[in-house]
Amino acid sequence: MPLIAVDGPAASGKGTIARALGRHFGVPHLDTGALYRVVALSALRSDIPLEDGARLGDAAAALDLSLLEDPELRAAGTGEAASRVSAHPQVRHALLAFQQGFAGQPGGAVLDGRDIGTVIAPQAGAKLFVTARPEIRARRRFLELVAAGRDVTEDRVLADIIARDARDTGRADAPLRQADDADLLDTSDLDIAAAVRRAIELVSARLDRKP
Ligand code: C5P
Repeated sequence: MPLIAVDGPAASGKGTIARALGRHFGVPHLDTGALYRVVALSALRSDIPLEDGARLGDAAAALDLSLLEDPELRAAGTGEAASRVSAHPQVRHALLAFQQGFAGQPGGAVLDGRDIGTVIAPQAGAKLFVTARPEIRARRRFLELVAAGRDVTEDRVLADIIARDARDTGRADAPLRQADDADLLDTSDLDIAAAVRRAIELVSARLDRKP
């Protein structure tokens, strides 16, 4: 039962890679960033201040999974709010059991996020740290947002990505970092198909299987 951890910064390609790994290895996939986005969306809609760790922790404990289908979940403002919400230890604590339960399924699992290999599932048999240069990540995210009909500039997306990286790596509780036993996968110069192939090779080697 393979347990695979995929971590990395915003727009690195980790979500696409994690989904593809789930299909390849036949295990369910959890996008843990979506959980923080759900908490952020609940907070924005209930006017909970993004500095109020105690109330945000309560909102996380009452996790409303129906919001996973909400069209605003992927909006840039929700991602920004998720990054702020996720810095509160009360929120991280409230989401811990759900993520660890998913990781502990007998058939295995793949989870992607920021702290999967370091905090949620340090026992994972394979860990990837997926990254890409900030300008490349901004370009990808910009094209996605334009395709979704959003009115943004590439400079603005790059500034948001740099700010989010700083917040995610600089927070005290479970900061974004590569686990010591994670393989680094830089997707800057790879297209999606090549990045997925490389990810499957790296994970297969760790799990001692043929790709
Ligand atoms: O991956 P995504 O951009 O959807 O994540 C939104 C935010 O949620 C991130 O910027 C990060 O601050 C937070 N997050 C986290 N830990 C995770 C997954 C996401 O702190 N495991």
